[in-house]
Amino acid sequence: MTVLVTGGAGYIGSHMVLDLLDAGEDILVLDNLSTGFAWALPAGTRLIRGDFGDAALLEEIFSTHPIEAVLHFAARSIVPESVAQPLDYYDTNVAGGRVLLAQMLKAGVKTLIFSSTATVYGDAATSPLHEGLPPCPLNPYGRSKLMVEWMIEDAARAHGLRCVVLRYFNVAGADPRGRTGQSSRIATHLIKIAVQAALGLREGLEIFGDDYQTPDGTCLRDYIAVSDLVRAHSDALSYLRAGGANLTCNVGYGRGYSVRDVIASVQRVSGRDLSVRMTGRRAGDPASLIASNERICTALGWRPQFDDLDLITQQALSWERQLQQRLQPA
Ligand code: UD1
Repeated sequence: MTVLVTGGAGYIGSHMVLDLLDAGEDILVLDNLSTGFAWALPAGTRLIRGDFGDAALLEEIFSTHPIEAVLHFAARSIVPESVAQPLDYYDTNVAGGRVLLAQMLKAGVKTLIFSSTATVYGDAATSPLHEGLPPCPLNPYGRSKLMVEWMIEDAARAHGLRCVVLRYFNVAGADPRGRTGQSSRIATHLIKIAVQAALGLREGLEIFGDDYQTPDGTCLRDYIAVSDLVRAHSDALSYLRAGGANLTCNVGYGRGYSVRDVIASVQRVSGRDLSVRMTGRRAGDPASLIASNERICTALGWRPQFDDLDLITQQALSWERQLQQRLQPA
């Protein structure tokens, strides 16, 4: 049987592919390469280039491969872009997600792991965030992910779809063996921006606001290593294969670091002083996003291995170095 990985050529998906291959799984990747890279996949990986919202393509995939489960990573996921182009986000993430669910059910494929986000919590007043809180996303990206969560919930009730929804906190770092990492052309995440500054690829960076109700005034985030996130997916797959009930779980370490903490870490691991400028708040940034991870630890037996900010920033730095060499003309 085969595991279908949508978005398998992307940042998180490519780490998942390596993990599945290491575990001896048979996999098929579906990716339109809009933000992913074919070179992020190990040689010999079966890649179908196309959209997960393409009903005819999915019908063909499900009728010609013995798909057992779908790991659905593909999505549009940049918050400011979602604010500027909301209908595109609803089209890709929601309308496309509906097509994927419909084609899975039509083909009798009932096992799904869905990539959701901590952004669904919005600016919740409590911390840490637990899965029972009413979601309240503040932007179209978060809303589109929540809509898919709802479709899954309804399809589970009506059609027996079996799913683990994983709500990611701030994913960072890279494969500890240096095989893949975050390769996106445009950096939007703090750690990638900070390591680029450390490598002299940009002049410096800005801190978006230091007037939050947090210990140093900058926002707190629960940064988790991409390898631990991938492990959460393999734990979820084992759980569903063993007959586990549908579940929504946060994936985070349960502790927060501030923007200043992250910058200090990048300075430590790179040995470079970063040029940092303070600016105003970025619209839609909650002061704090910290996971309660009790559920994932208890239900899935998730045991993170890389809960160390310096290790995560070191992984990001090493990958960025490698990426620049790769992008340089020979
Ligand atoms: C990001 C994603 C979100 C995703 C989440 C979890 C964006 C904009 N947000 O959240 O979609 O669901 O990860 O994976 O893509 N910051 C600076 N200066 C910078 C960049 C960021 O001060 O140059 C600050 C931000 O204000 C924020 C923190 O750093 O407080 C983290 O920002 P970022 O890395 O963009 O992640 P989030 O917005 O938290």
